[in-house]
Amino acid sequence: MTARSDGAGGTPGRDAPSALAGVVERCGGLLYGGDYNPEQWPEQVRAQDLELMRAAGVNLVTVGVFSWALIEPAPDRYEFAWLDRVLDDLAGADIAVDLATATASPPPWLAHRHPETLPVTRDGRRLWPGGRQAFCPSSSVFRDRAVRLAGRMAERYADHPALVLWHVGNELGAHNAHCFCDVSADAFRGWLRIRYADDLDALNDAWGTAFWSQRVHAWEEVLPPRANPAIGNPSQELDFRRFSSDELLACFTAERDVLRRVTPEVPVTTNLMAMWVFRDADYWSWAPELDLIANDHYLVADDPRAHVELGLSADITRGLASGRPWLLMEHSTGAVNWQPRNPPKAPGQLRRNSVQHIARGADGVLFFQWRASTAGAERFHSAMLPHAGPDTRVHREVRALGADLARLAEVVGSRVVSEVALIFDWQSWWAVEQFAHPSVDVTYRDRVRAWHAALFDTHTGVDVVAPGAELSGYRLVVVPTLYLVDRAAVETIERFVRAGGTALITYFSGIVDEHDRVLPGGYPGAFRELLGIWVEEFHPLLPEQEVRLDDGGTGSVWTEHLHLCGAQAVATYSDGPQAGLAALTRHAVGEGAAWYVATELDDDARVRLVRRVLDEAGVRPVTRAPSGVEVVRRSHEQGPSYLFVLNHRDAMVEVDAAGVDLLTGAEVSGRITVPPGGVAVVREVDA
Ligand code: GLA
Repeated sequence: MTARSDGAGGTPGRDAPSALAGVVERCGGLLYGGDYNPEQWPEQVRAQDLELMRAAGVNLVTVGVFSWALIEPAPDRYEFAWLDRVLDDLAGADIAVDLATATASPPPWLAHRHPETLPVTRDGRRLWPGGRQAFCPSSSVFRDRAVRLAGRMAERYADHPALVLWHVGNELGAHNAHCFCDVSADAFRGWLRIRYADDLDALNDAWGTAFWSQRVHAWEEVLPPRANPAIGNPSQELDFRRFSSDELLACFTAERDVLRRVTPEVPVTTNLMAMWVFRDADYWSWAPELDLIANDHYLVADDPRAHVELGLSADITRGLASGRPWLLMEHSTGAVNWQPRNPPKAPGQLRRNSVQHIARGADGVLFFQWRASTAGAERFHSAMLPHAGPDTRVHREVRALGADLARLAEVVGSRVVSEVALIFDWQSWWAVEQFAHPSVDVTYRDRVRAWHAALFDTHTGVDVVAPGAELSGYRLVVVPTLYLVDRAAVETIERFVRAGGTALITYFSGIVDEHDRVLPGGYPGAFRELLGIWVEEFHPLLPEQEVRLDDGGTGSVWTEHLHLCGAQAVATYSDGPQAGLAALTRHAVGEGAAWYVATELDDDARVRLVRRVLDEAGVRPVTRAPSGVEVVRRSHEQGPSYLFVLNHRDAMVEVDAAGVDLLTGAEVSGRITVPPGGVAVVREVDA
């Protein structure tokens, strides 16, 4: 059952504060390395791998992610000898191992013997093996086999000196997040019977089945939202998404539990995908189940502000880790292979991306993968060791990064502290992007990104938190398009504002309850009172349509017929369908204030508003910096703080700083100069 987190992004699992710290300690500093797939190479290649890894400062590699078919060539026949040698050699080279349970991609024999384990699409198509992750997450046959393999791995390597971390599966749900087969249908019914306490009336009520003759009279009649001739039931769809997230998580916990039984000292994680290409798991409910939070991140090549998106992904990951350090399990040294056009990273970009993740809380950066594959679907994916070998720009940058990370070792364990929280929610994301809404242009990721970017551009630190997270440590909370929200989360924001906090809430928030049923009586039902407004009617705009505001800004995408009832208009529409009505409002509540934004502001207007609200809330920037320069601070609870300066521009910049630049060893007294595309990390004096 989906558990909503009750803290700043949930609480990672057992010994969480020390799980990553333990790995870092064993590896002797910031973690550095990548996926290592030696099974793709003759054994003689390994000596060169190890030599180059050591020269690059690699201290951790992920092994075995896709080796199920080699480890278990037939059911219950295990061939561990080759893997023994790999781990022994790594241990001999003093390189630690994040050992995968190898269950990321089932071997061909599983589908051959048990075709019922293959996933089925919404329109009833069975997907075949030939790629990876061809399994139904609810399949008990798959889970039994996976747990059995994880158990065997644990027994085999429990005492191996290289083993420091378990890696369950790989990017769970990346290709098989939703399965609509009969096994899944059965599991969905079981999940619903728990959710609705075996009460079919409660399910009918939650799903609004009086509409379109959908009332079910027996559990057997309940189905996953398979392809249908019309528009599906949104509440059913939402529950199915929750169920699917829970099923993937259950694949993780089933393996984790057997690993914990055999190797209680070794932390267990899996690589999450808190980035824009993936939305199918509610990671707030996953985070407490992981011993440490690990994330994968890849840049979108044609995104001119990809570094801002990287910042958001890192902030979400830190939120999942409850503010604690986390591990970047994968990113790329250069091109990926799965976007339409895959350019390499520019010189210096690999370093800047890595240091940016560290700035935002990572205590390690790993890549996919060590040695570039020559065969298979990813043969044109970049690696730490390119096809052309070690005498290449990329590999030289990899070695240089290893040396840089050694210089940054003292940041390990320090934290990013922010005065601003941004509420982000996977469930609301699923709900707001359902079919048959007022406008297809109200997409969630873009809304969240835009507000996060405005904070980024004002050099303001921000924590990403779950709805319902404790807000008392913050001065400002930003709530972009939180369409679906429950009462408890609303009350947390109300309490925060009454106690003196500032909330900024944007349009199409607080519209439905947790079943995606509209809260009647004037929108936005959940936030009406807090905002001191009510909305009579939505009026989305057509593509290219813009409206002007009397403060000089413009709006697009959305307007609404808004009435004030307690709030004051901060800006009104000068033209368009709502001319003369409020577009921005502010409501003084208790000691604080709740702001509302009723349209999609242009970028400048958004940044202006953010500055104004930050000012009112008394939030100061991390430090003054030119635009296009990112500044982030990590601090030890008792000890120094570090100012990270990332120059995303192609010009030299200067930033106020005083202390020592850890990367160059130079004293910094008052100002630091950072070259185009460069980075600096200053241990601050008297921060
Ligand atoms: C994901 C996977 C890796 C690899 C990379 C390629 O992150 O986890 O196995 O496929 O993508 O970018």
